[in-house]
Formats: sequence, structure tokens, C-alpha cells
Amino acid sequence: MNKLLYLNEFIKRITNIDEIEQVAKLTAFICRKFFDARNLVFFLEDNGVIKPIYFEKSLSAADLLFYQKFFSCESESFIIYPKEIKYSSHLYKLLSFYESNYLVLKSFDCDNKVRVLLSFGVKELTQDTQDYLESFLNVVKLKIKYLFSMKSLKNSLKATKAALDSSLAVLSNLAEIRDVYTKGHMQRVSAYSRNIALNLKLDNVETIEKAALLHDIGKIGIPDAILLKPAKLSEQEYKFIKKHPEFSEYILSQIKGFEDIIKIIRSHHEYLDGSGYPDGLKNGEIMLEAKIITIADIFDALTTDRPYRKAIGAKEAIKLMFNKFRGKIDEEILSKSVEVLLKSKSMVCDIEQYSQQLEEMRNMVFFIDYETGFYSRHYLPKFSHQIDQDAHLLLLDLHDMRTINFTYSRFVGDKLIYTFSQMIREVFVRYPSEFFRIGGDSFVVVIKQKIENLTNDILDLDHKLKAACKDINPSFWFSSCDFSQGDDINKRLQELTTNIFYKRRVS
Ligand SMILES: [Fe+2]
Ligand SMILES: [Fe+2]
Repeated sequence: MNKLLYLNEFIKRITNIDEIEQVAKLTAFICRKFFDARNLVFFLEDNGVIKPIYFEKSLSAADLLFYQKFFSCESESFIIYPKEIKYSSHLYKLLSFYESNYLVLKSFDCDNKVRVLLSFGVKELTQDTQDYLESFLNVVKLKIKYLFSMKSLKNSLKATKAALDSSLAVLSNLAEIRDVYTKGHMQRVSAYSRNIALNLKLDNVETIEKAALLHDIGKIGIPDAILLKPAKLSEQEYKFIKKHPEFSEYILSQIKGFEDIIKIIRSHHEYLDGSGYPDGLKNGEIMLEAKIITIADIFDALTTDRPYRKAIGAKEAIKLMFNKFRGKIDEEILSKSVEVLLKSKSMVCDIEQYSQQLEEMRNMVFFIDYETGFYSRHYLPKFSHQIDQDAHLLLLDLHDMRTINFTYSRFVGDKLIYTFSQMIREVFVRYPSEFFRIGGDSFVVVIKQKIENLTNDILDLDHKLKAACKDINPSFWFSSCDFSQGDDINKRLQELTTNIFYKRRVS
């Protein structure tokens, strides 16, 4: 094989190598074959530490010392000629052992911390061979430099990925603190989207998974009163909710490296017929990744309880998606994903217990009556299900509020309601109780124990109320009954209301 062919063959083979040790081995092989090289050594100096990565004979401390001085040589390539070699020097011994006359050296920086030294002896060295040797060693140098720049690129990518992953964790925790449902939802949608993408054999599964994991992060910009509202949203409120993809985009746009994810997230509520938001994109304009998340998103929304409606089964949800969302979501993706969704649903775990407690505490904002500080009537049915011991229900109803409002003004009436509520709390706080305002001037006290007689408490309340509002001289109706676990709270309340109604009639 002639010299050029050798060089070409070498370039071809070195292109596919990605380990420096393999480069060293191939270099040694070519040097031996082509230049009749002997005793090839290949050193790497990394952060001041010299490490031999290829050598043909074991290296002594004297050898290492000898080579060490060439690391800092200014010239990159040089040859030590026979006339420069002193008899009895270490180099002389080295070369004569291998019957070499010349020592070839090449050293270069790979980056500012790593330097390479390549050295071998040759018996003959013509000018022609020197030229080829120079070209050949330059190819070795370029390859090694390339490997090192790839290595540092990989390291910086790794560092960037770690930074991105920690941003992801921070955002995910932020979502949890803001709204447990949204976090659980995003985690489930992420799992569904990942499985759909894997099933479709897409090559950017990780990007889709991450986009899904943060797709609703913008909901942290939606007030609780709208986000957690346990009732249907008004048009205005819905308009606000529809802003969340843009909020997500805004939040994530501050993080470098999230560009792909942001584009997908912005479009996760777009529908193929153009009726989605925020851009009203149509089929051809919506990214495949966003279409996948839309399907996963709807599937999760249908199969989980929300404050305003109950979950439906996975099979029923898919049926509904084929019918109700026809023309809106990508049917081809959905058809291919039916099995995946059904299987994933059984694997996706629900939000943890403590998160549910956090969610319940947050939801309490909807169950507080801000005028009195009592729970609102909406919480009473929910609370009654939690009663697991004998209890007592007391209904209290202010007498003739209409006349008071008319005679003294609504302001005085409102003040009376507030005073009455505070008196109720003052009197009944001696029992383990919870307080509810179930109407404008009606209150319920749930005493979590059996009570034989409340007469003294009622008299005390009447006395306190009259003392606090002497001018009006208010009075109230009351009725009470036992309440046991499993009783229907509405029925019980109805009985108490009827009692008061009869009391009023006979009075
Ligand atoms: Fe969303
Ligand atoms: Fe969502």
C-alpha cells in the first residue's frame, strides 16, 4: 500500500473512534507499519498529572522523567537527530535498545488543562518521510482535540441538563405549593404523554414528557377563587383561565434551554378545528407533541374528580373523547393510544395523602363565611360525613330580621347578625363544636358529643345577646336534635327548621 493510501485508510478508521485510548492504539499501529516506529509512548497530562495511556515497554521512573521535560516544550513537533544524542545519556539507552537513531516527538494542548505527548523512535528518516509524518501527526492531533472538545461539550451539556432538571424540580414544587391538583395533574399527564410518545416511537419523548410536566405551570397566575371554584366558571372567569398557556410560556421563557418545551406548552389547548386557544391554530399548524399532550390532558381531566364534577371511568372517558372531541383532537393519535391510556391509568398513582390534606385546607377558602368567620352552609354536608361519633345539632335563627332591617337599617341588621354569631361562639365554645352560617340569620352549631340539656346555654346566649343589643332587644328561635354517624344532615336540618316553623306559628 502506498503512503497516501495508508494515510487515507488511517483517516477513515480514526473518524469512527471516540476514545482517546483507541486513537493511541491506532496511531501506534500506523506508526509501526508505515514509519517503522519503535517504542511508541503516548502520554496525557491532565491538570498537571502525567498519565501514560499507551506504551510498548514498561516505563521506569527515569523514562518518565525523561519524557516529562518535553511536555513544556514550546515547539509542537520536533525530531532529535543522532548527532544531538549524547553517548551514555538516557535517550541513548532508550534508542539503542530499540535500534533507533531518531526520536520523534509531538506535543500539543487539547484544552487549557490537558496536554498530549506522543513519542517514538525510528531507524531511518528521509525528508519525504518527515513530511508524511508531519501530516499524519496533525491528523492525530485534530482527532484528539476533537475528542476533548466533544468531552467538554458533553460535560457542559450534562451540567446544563442538571441545571434544567433542577429548574424543573423547583417549578414542579412551586406548582404543588400553589395547587396540589395541578401538580398531580401535570405528573399524570406527563406519564400519559410519555407512554403515548413511546408507543408512537417518537425520538423526542423526553421533551414531550417535560413539556407535559410543566404544561399548566401558568395556573399559578390564576387566583384561587377561580382556580379552585367548586362551581361552574362564569364566562369572564373562563376567559381568565384561558390565559394559563401564555402564563406558562412567560414563566418558562426566563429559563434558557426550554425553548422547545415552551412552544409545545403554548399549544396544549389548541384544537384541530381552530376552536382552541390561545392562537386558534388549525390541524396542520399544531405540533404533534402538543396534540399528544392535549389528548393526555383531556383524558386526565375526565378521569379525576374536580371540585365541580366527579371523575368518569377510563373506558368511558375514551369513548367520550371520540364523540365529544371529534374534529378537535387527533383521532389517529387517540386510536393508537387507547391501550396505552388504559394501561397507564392503572399505573399512575394518585397524589399523596399529605398533598390531599393540603388541597383540602386550601379549598376551605370556599367554605368560610367572611362576615362571621363561621363555615358556610356548603361545608356542612361535607363536614357531616366526617362525623364519626354521636353528636348534637343546634339550629339558631334570629327572630324577625326583616322588621329589624326595616326599622333600624340593614347596617344595624348586619351588625346584629355578626354580634349574634360571636355570642354563639362564646357560649358554645365550651363544647367541642364547629360553627356554620347556613342562611342570612340562621346558624348551626355541631357539638361533637351527646348533650342532654342545652337550656342553660340557650338562656346564657339570650342574656348575652340582649345585653349586647339593648336598643333592639333581639330574640331568636332554636331547635336541636341528636346526630349519629351516617345520618342525613339535610333531613336532620329540615326537621329542625320545621320545629322552629311550628314554634313560630304557635307563638
Ligand atoms: Fe392547560
Ligand atoms: Fe392540563
